[in-house]
Amino acid sequence: MAYGNTTLRPLTTCEPPLNVVGIRNTQATPLVLHMRIGRVEVERGVLLAPMEDVTDLPFRLICRRYGADIVYTEFISSDGLIRDARRSLEKVRLAEEERPVAIQIFGGNEDVMVGAARKAEESGPDFIDINFGCWVKNVVVRNAGAALLKDPPQMAALTKAIVQNVGLPVTVKTRLGWAKDEIVILDVAQRLQDAGAAALTVHCRTRDMGHDGEADWSWIPRIKEVVDIPVILNGDVRTGADVDRAFSTTGADAVMIGRAAIGNPFVFSEAKNLRAGASARERVDVCLEHLRLEVEYKPLRRAIHEFRKHYSGYLKGLPNNSLARQDIVRMESYAEIEDRLLRFAADHEAVYG
Ligand SMILES: Cc1cc2nc3c(=O)[nH]c(=O)nc-3n(C[C@H](O)[C@H](O)[C@H](O)COP(=O)(O)O)c2cc1C
Repeated sequence: MAYGNTTLRPLTTCEPPLNVVGIRNTQATPLVLHMRIGRVEVERGVLLAPMEDVTDLPFRLICRRYGADIVYTEFISSDGLIRDARRSLEKVRLAEEERPVAIQIFGGNEDVMVGAARKAEESGPDFIDINFGCWVKNVVVRNAGAALLKDPPQMAALTKAIVQNVGLPVTVKTRLGWAKDEIVILDVAQRLQDAGAAALTVHCRTRDMGHDGEADWSWIPRIKEVVDIPVILNGDVRTGADVDRAFSTTGADAVMIGRAAIGNPFVFSEAKNLRAGASARERVDVCLEHLRLEVEYKPLRRAIHEFRKHYSGYLKGLPNNSLARQDIVRMESYAEIEDRLLRFAADHEAVYG
């Protein structure tokens, strides 16, 4: 249990603009929207999307520090969880400091999903999210993820079974439909509300779009017309300006950011208009802190290798970062990477101040 009894160092490099569970942010502006999911209340919430191999505990902690109002685990296989598979158990490990946090599960079998949801509940998340949006083939062929968009009554039945068997609020994340000519979200939203879902996150694409094409936010106000539960907008929110636009043009109850947060937790503080972008030195410091947390959390080799996807985000926009990136993706030890990145930051400061 890497974090079960770990006290994280005080979060020092950035002011923590966090909405703590149950404490309402009082800085209301005309754009502020208030959302409640069980004991979690956020205003004008900007959430970290669940992302496989990205939103592990270290990254969730860092995103919370930079202002993500709610964070989600990556999706966790219900089958794996009920079998106590090592990797699934690793994924349900939470830390007090990251609250509010949701555990996301996926699956296609009711009994297995109910068992997995109960197991997830034992880890003490603030709520449980069900993935009915994953488009990848090996999930869909198991009648899980976005496959349920082909069968809204079954999606609702699975949701209802989970709602009835856990004490925590249950939310759902899904897409608009299977394909452009098969958009079912209005029907799905009503069925999920009737099934007892506490909120609905909509990735505003269809399954056949994968992550391509443009997310169509125009569905959010239409969904809001047919349900009362909170509706969370997801898809193509990349900057603070996008967040403002998402709230002001759609009436979404909260906004969820995925890819734009990878290697860029600063997007949350920017989105909350708390500050402008991070300096080169801060980017490098946070990158190294993130890597240190990963090394504490996972076996060293795995941590170093899996972390490689984060460098381009952390160094994005900094002039001449490609040489540094080429070097560090070949390195196998934390010390080497630290040395190279600190040299990069020092060189950057010498030239650009
Ligand atoms: C690397 C990666 C992993 C993802 N894993 C998950 C997941 O585990 N569960 C989920 O609901 N969505 C997952 N998604 C989808 C995102 O949560 C989000 O819906 C999608 O990226 C669109 O939002 P964005 O435009 O802000 O990135 C993943 C996306 C990416 C890029």
